Amino acid sequence: MDYRIRQAKEVDLPSISRIEAASHPRPWTRDDFKWELENACGRFHFWVAAESCTERPVAYICFHFVIDEIYIRNLTVEPAERRTGIGRRLLDLSCQWGKRKGTKRVVLDVRIGNSEALKFYRNCGFDLIKGYINRSSRLMEKILL
Ligand SMILES: CC(C)(COP(=O)(O)OP(=O)(O)OC[C@H]1O[C@@H](n2cnc3c(N)ncnc32)[C@H](O)[C@@H]1OP(=O)(O)O)[C@@H](O)C(=O)NCCC(=O)NCCS
Repeated sequence: MDYRIRQAKEVDLPSISRIEAASHPRPWTRDDFKWELENACGRFHFWVAAESCTERPVAYICFHFVIDEIYIRNLTVEPAERRTGIGRRLLDLSCQWGKRKGTKRVVLDVRIGNSEALKFYRNCGFDLIKGYINRSSRLMEKILL
């Protein structure tokens, strides 16, 4: 599938909400995404990978940029489009963008039990942060060299 990565728009929210509901045990609501959209600026970023011919989003990433760190708030790929490299592409582009802005570290939470995401992030160069204890999630980081 051909796709292009661009900033999210309000018209994308119904597709994004459907993907979110099919992907997470505690999905973000449409209002959560609307908030990300309304606050997308220098610090909050919300991008989608959209199918080239239809403009329909098949994946999205929300990240927060503060001083010299990026925090990945949400990264989700439509179930039918997984394992085709879209997740890695969105993550890599966010890291590259951050690096140009002076980001030294990318951080994220992975829910305990989400072994697929853990494998994905490990494969993308992230390590577990040792000593971080939380009942429901693990914290991972990638140092940008
Ligand atoms: C995690 C997620 C974003 C990965 O996106 P994706 O587009 O399927 O991942 P990619 O195709 O870019 O995978 C890159 C590599 O990560 C690893 N990987 C990805 N998904 C994996 C899985 N289910 N099991 C094992 N390894 C996996 C593989 O090594 C893969 O490379 P390969 O396919 O050449 O072997 C996607 O599975 C998803 O949306 N999951 C539900 C939402 C979620 O859990 N998001 C993360 C919240 S923290």
